[in-house]
Amino acid sequence: MPEPPTNSVLFVCLGNICRSPLAEGIFLHLARERAIDVVADSAGTGHWHVGDRPDRRALATADRHGVELPGIGRQIDPSSDFGRFAWIVPMDASNHRDLLRLGSPPERTRRMRAFDPEHAGEVDRAPDVPDPYYGEDDGFERVYEMLTAACNGLLDQLVDQRHATANR
Ligand code: 4NP
Repeated sequence: MPEPPTNSVLFVCLGNICRSPLAEGIFLHLARERAIDVVADSAGTGHWHVGDRPDRRALATADRHGVELPGIGRQIDPSSDFGRFAWIVPMDASNHRDLLRLGSPPERTRRMRAFDPEHAGEVDRAPDVPDPYYGEDDGFERVYEMLTAACNGLLDQLVDQRHATANR
């Protein structure tokens, strides 16, 4: 199988209607603003929301910040996803464990908040992006802030990586 492009990222949560579609939309939005070429998608470990648009609270939060969410709910496909994306990015420790069980390559599976410079070096101990599904609406705004910090950190890393490869 060919190597996945180094700028490709799959964001993963449980339902694929709250956190990971927000992460995907924010990541694409910031990449466009910063003129960084990326490939991104999102998926859930669960099957309940296959074919669904993101949760209305996720859509409203994105909309307030001028971010579009292109995602339609889908379940992770271990037979293709781990080969198509350079980075597999779970939102929390539970998603992380599930992904490793499904065969996600450990060295390319990294928790979302490990990319936040505030948690650099914590890698496998980085805090969760908490599931806002059963919480209050303001949970989505907090998740938005966490995802923005982590997406910017991830973009910084992709840019550094590209420079390192170009200078080899
Ligand atoms: P997400 O939130 O993993 O951030 O998309 C959830 C959405 C739905 C469910 C669980 C988590 N659910 O059980 O339906």
